[in-house]
Amino acid sequence: MTIIDGKLTAQQLRAEIAAEVAEMVAAGQAAPHLVAILVGNNGASMTYVANKEKMCGECGFRSTVLRMPEETTEEQLLAEVERLNNDPEVDGFIVQLPLPKHIDEQRVIEAISPRKDVDGFTPINVGAMVLGLECFVPATPAGILELLKRYNVPTAGKKCAVIGRSNIVGRPMSILLSQKGWDATVTLCHSRTANLAETVAEADIVIAALGIPGFVKANMVKEGATVIDVGITRVEADNARGWKVVGDVDYAEVAPKCSYITPVPGGVGPMTIISLMKNTLLAAKRRK
Ligand code: GUN
Repeated sequence: MTIIDGKLTAQQLRAEIAAEVAEMVAAGQAAPHLVAILVGNNGASMTYVANKEKMCGECGFRSTVLRMPEETTEEQLLAEVERLNNDPEVDGFIVQLPLPKHIDEQRVIEAISPRKDVDGFTPINVGAMVLGLECFVPATPAGILELLKRYNVPTAGKKCAVIGRSNIVGRPMSILLSQKGWDATVTLCHSRTANLAETVAEADIVIAALGIPGFVKANMVKEGATVIDVGITRVEADNARGWKVVGDVDYAEVAPKCSYITPVPGGVGPMTIISLMKNTLLAAKRRK
C-alpha cells in the first residue's frame, strides 16, 4: 500500500511554479497576481483564503484579499467583480464560496470573466472543459489528476467510481477521467444511486467527494483499489483548537486493502491550493 503524499507533491509543484515565476520576473514581466474576494466571516472560508494568500507569497505571486462585510449587497459584489474583470493588474480572481444567503451565487459566478476565472467555475470554462478545449480546470479535480499522474496510477480502461456530484469536484472529476488521455470508465454515484456500495466495490479507483465523514468502509472497496479522499469535514476534537479535519473514507479500515490511498489531512487538500496557483500562472502567461 502506497500513501499518496499530497503535501510533498504540492511542495514539489510549488518549487516548479516559483522557478517559473522567477524566470518571468527576470524577463521583465510582472509576477502573477491573484485576488480573492471574501464576503462575511465564515470561519472555514477565512482559513482557506489565508492559506491561498500564504501560498501566493511562497510562489512569488502578488496577492490581494478583498474583504467585504456580511451585509454586502449582490449589486455591490457584482460591481467589484466587474472592476476586477477590467483591472489589467489582476490576472485571476476567485470569489470564495459559500456567499451569504441573500446573494445569488450563480449570478456572481456568471459575472466573472472566463479569462480570469481561475477557479474554473464559469459556464464558459465548464463548457470548454467538457469539450476538452483549453480552459481553467477546477482546482480539486486538477490536483487529483496531478496526484494520479505523479504516482503513475493507471487509469486507462479502469473502472472508476466518483461519489458525489458537486459542480466543484464530483461532476468535473467524472468528466475529466473519462476523457482521452485518462480513459477511465466512470460511474458518478450520488445520494439517489441504487446499490451504491456494490458499484463502489467494483471500482479500481474510488474518489470520495460527498462530505460525509468515514462514509467509505472497507467492505465497499475492492482489494488493490486506489482510494482518493476529498472529504474535509471539521469535527470537534480534544485538541487546542477544538476541531480536526476528517475525510470521507474510514482510513484505518480501508487503507490496508488499497494499492494507493490519500490521507486526510495531507492528501488532496494541499493539491487544491497549488492547482489554483497553476491556473493563476496560466492566466498570467495568457495576459496580453
Ligand atoms: N469554497 C470551497 N472551495 C472553494 C473553491 O475551490 N473556490 C472558491 N471560490 N470557493 C470555495
